[in-house]
Order: sequence, then structure tokens, then C-alpha cells
Amino acid sequence: MCGIVAAAAQRDVAPLLIAGLKALEYRGYDSAGLAVLEAGAIRRVRAKGKVREMESLYLAQPFPGGTGIAHTRWATHGAPSEANAHPHIAGRVALVHNGIIENYASLRSDLQTRGHVFTSETDTEVMAALIEEQIQKGQSLREAVLATVRSLEGAYAIAVISRDEPGRVVGARRGAPLLIGVGIGEHFLGSDAQALIQITNKIVYLDEDDVADITRDSMQIFGLDGQPVVRAVHESELSADAVERGEYRHYMQKEIFEQPRAVADTLEARIGPHGVLPNIFGVDGEALLQRVRGLHIIACGTSYHAGLVAKYWIEEYARLPVSVEVASEYRYREAVVPDDTLFIAISQSGETADTLAAMRESRRRGYLGTLAICNVPESSVVREADLKLMTRAGPEIGVASTKAFTTQLTALALLALQLAHQRGLDHARYIELCTQLQHLPRAIENALKLEPQIIELAAHLIHRQHALFLGRGAQYPVALEGSLKLKEISYIHAEAYPAGELKHGPLALVDEDMPVIAVAPNGPLLDKLKSNLQEVRARGGELLVFADSAAHLEDNIAHGAILRIDGGGDFIAPAVFTVPLQLLAYHVAVLRGTDVDQPRNLAKSVTVE
Ligand code: G6P
Repeated sequence: MCGIVAAAAQRDVAPLLIAGLKALEYRGYDSAGLAVLEAGAIRRVRAKGKVREMESLYLAQPFPGGTGIAHTRWATHGAPSEANAHPHIAGRVALVHNGIIENYASLRSDLQTRGHVFTSETDTEVMAALIEEQIQKGQSLREAVLATVRSLEGAYAIAVISRDEPGRVVGARRGAPLLIGVGIGEHFLGSDAQALIQITNKIVYLDEDDVADITRDSMQIFGLDGQPVVRAVHESELSADAVERGEYRHYMQKEIFEQPRAVADTLEARIGPHGVLPNIFGVDGEALLQRVRGLHIIACGTSYHAGLVAKYWIEEYARLPVSVEVASEYRYREAVVPDDTLFIAISQSGETADTLAAMRESRRRGYLGTLAICNVPESSVVREADLKLMTRAGPEIGVASTKAFTTQLTALALLALQLAHQRGLDHARYIELCTQLQHLPRAIENALKLEPQIIELAAHLIHRQHALFLGRGAQYPVALEGSLKLKEISYIHAEAYPAGELKHGPLALVDEDMPVIAVAPNGPLLDKLKSNLQEVRARGGELLVFADSAAHLEDNIAHGAILRIDGGGDFIAPAVFTVPLQLLAYHVAVLRGTDVDQPRNLAKSVTVE
């Protein structure tokens, strides 16, 4: 999703801006640009495609300048093109923008009536034109930005420069993140701390409706009413090294292999031989959890699948009712909230617009409280939640989520155990489940050893147009996640079904051209799944089965292949079985030659609706 980097410094900033944009590439984008103030003029370069394409244009004709703004765009209004790429210029003003301006059409036609000529199809250009109009009326850049944002509906994070005020960048945010980086004798704006971490770890997070005015040696923040406000400086714990790709071919592969470490980090100091440790949800957390009589889980994409697994766990072990819903639906429907229901938002980034909006909407609906399960401590979702449980996956760069998912499952497993314990789950069973969870890093490590065999399986899939994933029980969401991974990065159409539903429709699709990928852990549903697999086999479908080594599954069940995995026990098996499905999607995508880390049309963090 769109990224912003801006700088007010003494040194030439274009190389810093380009480095910042590269650090944000993982978010997904389709064009890039930057503008720098130089000797009273604005110099701009923009290109469709990758940052490096814009960078080569810049390097062919570099320009100096200590004040600048830069952007990676993910198209919403208007196709990806140079003309629609940011920065947009109107008169003396250049501007970059993340978000969507909902009233842009009426603002645009008003501006056209007043004679403004637009050069792009974007909603962003409207803001540049409005700010320019205000400056023409004699306002300063900061006043012009304030006046303009007051007239906007929708979401924005912006950074603006003006030819008339060299050395100054003004930023503003509502519904999209923006922060200030405090350097030595220089200041920066960024939509994500990752963009600035190579320069500074001193970060000021802007609040909703803040307007920031930075120069080399000053930083001022104002509310929408124009009054100064004070925001604290934080030391970010992000490190630039954490985003190096190292020996791996792609970030996604690196992140898949980081899972044993990431899951171990999520468990650290949270679980011991006698169970889940106290206070992992904060001091008042346990008291609040004691009162919970039901849970509503809201999330998007992969995080939604983590929520679906948690439903199986919490209902089985804690006997509490759980509903799981995608955030974009929840926020626009009148959900019934029974008394003492806990609202849970799951989000890797903590900035997904739909999830954040759903959480804000939940405030109105009378929940017992809100819990954020998130990977980014400084994110909006975390800052606005009552309780938080961080997933500690470390930065995830690949757009297709992997270690974020398994660490979400780990955090949700801790929650399920805590609730189960409070609600009287048999003690021996509780301790047995805790032991399984403590072994999860090791079980994932074992699953990763299957990579060579999975590469062979991947070769079977590369010329297929479609694939069907099957699972039962808590492995159904794992099948959903496996199919999402495959479609995201290999562009093969994939669907997932609870295996028992096969006969109610998808069986019609099964023939020799339809590979069927099944997850078959050991457990009470195994026999049922075997019958479902026979139904596929009878129709000539090719079966790829990921089976628990403890499960009794005849090798001749399939026209296809069976790969055996030690699932590590019924409780943690969903997290373990996720790993081979991630590897399968990864290797299919590599063999098909797609852009694995930045698949087409997708963004890492979707900060617009
Ligand atoms: C985007 C990403 C997905 C992610 C989803 C939710 O669609 O491409 O990988 O699962 O957003 O993101 P979140 O940060 O809220 O978990």
C-alpha cells in the first residue's frame, strides 16, 4: 500500500528518500516518485513500476536539494501510470498522499469551475490544488494545509512542500498513519517507521487530525483547530538489519524459515511448565478475561484465518462462544453483542483500515473491552485497544503473510489456554496442551525439513489453472490459508472447502485436471476425511495429501502423493500443517517465475477501505 517519506535536512535528500521508499517496497505499490525543492524550484521524477525504475531516471539527471517528499503509490483512483504517480504539483505546491478522499469528486468539479486544470485522475491532485488556492489567498503553507484538510472527507496522510517556503515540509493525518523521525539537525516524515529506521530510531507518532510542520531544526505539531499539541518522542525498536534478505532467495522464504524463532519469541516469558504465566495481557487483563462470556474476532486476510482457527480452540477448550468475521463486513452491519463479549482485533500491521474502523465501531456497540493481537507495538490498533498481546514475529516484508500467521496462532493459543484454565478445563489436559504449545517451535522446524519433497510436489502444480484445498475441523482454516497463499503468489485459482462439504458442490469440479490438496492430521475426523479423499480419487482427481505421521492413511489412497508430517499433537497441528502449505505455494510461485515478495495488485498493509 502507498508509502510516504519526506525530509527537511541540510544534505541532499533524494538518495535518502529513495532508500526510504525501498524500505517500504514490501508494502506493495505500482509506481513511485519524488520531488525536491531546489533553488526556489520544484524538481520532480516519477515512474510507473518499481522504485529502481524511478531511481534510474533520477540518477540519469540527479538534482540536489535538502527538502523533499517521496511516495510509492498503490492505485485507487486512476490506473498505475506516470501521470497518476505522486507527487502531484499545483502551482507552487507539491504533495504526496496515502488514503482516499471521499468527497474528491465535488471538490474537483468546484475547482474546475474556478478554472483549475487537472493532469491526473487521482483524488490527491485535488488537495494540491486546494492548498495552492489557499496560498494564493495569502496563507502560509501550514495555514493552507489546515484549511484544506478541514474540508476533506475520507482518509489521508499527506506531506506537502511549497516553492515559497524552502526548508519546510508540512504533513497531516486522518485515518492513515504518519510519523515524524527526529534526526540530528534534520527532521523526516514517514508513513511507517521502517522508512526512516536507517536514519533515526527517534519517532513521534502523530495522532488523528494532527498537522506537523517540520524544518531542519524545528518540529511543531498542531491540532485541527490550529492550536499546538505535544506528542512524545519514542525510541523505535525496529532495526534496519531485520529487513535484510540474507542467504534467502526471497523475503517470503526467509520468513517461512524464521518461524521456529518467531514462534519461540511469541511464547517467551508467557508460558512455563505449570501453564500460561500471569499478566501476559497486562495487569488488569486476567480480571477482564474472567468476566468474558463470549468473543467476537474481527480481522482481514490471513489474520482472519488465524481467528477461524482460534474459534475451534476456544470453543473446544474454554467452552465459550466465538464468532469470527471479516472486518469489512462487520463494520457495516448491526452485529448483536451479547453481554460480556470481548472484541478481538487480529492484525499483523495494526494499520489495516477495515480492522481499525471495525475496532472503532466496536466502541459504540457495548463490548466488555477490546484486545489487539498484533505484530507492531506502535500501531494504531495496539494504541487504541484495552488489552494487547504482541506477536513478536519481527518485520514481515513478503506481502504474503507467513510468520505473522503462525505467531498469531501462537498468541491465540495462549489466549485459548488462559480462558480454558480460568473456565475449569481438566488440569492434566491443560498441562498437556501447554506442553504441546511449548514444542511448537521444534515441530515447525521438523516441518521445514520437508522442503526438498515439497519442491518436487510443486513441480506438479505449475501448469495447473485451479486447485482445491480440503481440511476438516481446525484444519479447515488451514486449508483456507493454504489456498490463499497459492492464489496470492502463484496466481493459480484456488479454493478451500471443509472436506465434508465436497459433495455439496465442488465435487462437480473434480477431474484429472483438478489437483486436490488435503490436510489430514490425526484425530477423530480422519476416517471422515478418508472417505472424502476416496470421493476425489473415484473421479480421477490428483490428490496431494499432507498427513500426520501418526495417522493411519494407506499410501495407495491417492493417485498423487502423500507427504507425512509430525503434527506435534492435536492442539498445535493447525500451526504445523500451515508450514508445508506455505512452502508449496512458495515453490510453485518460484517455478512459475512470479514476483513472490510483491505479487501483482496486492499490498502488505491495506490502509484504505
Ligand atoms: C493485506 C495483506 C495480507 C494480510 C491482510 C490483513 O491484504 O496482503 O497478507 O493478511 O492485509 O493485514 P493485517 O496487517 O491487518 O494482518
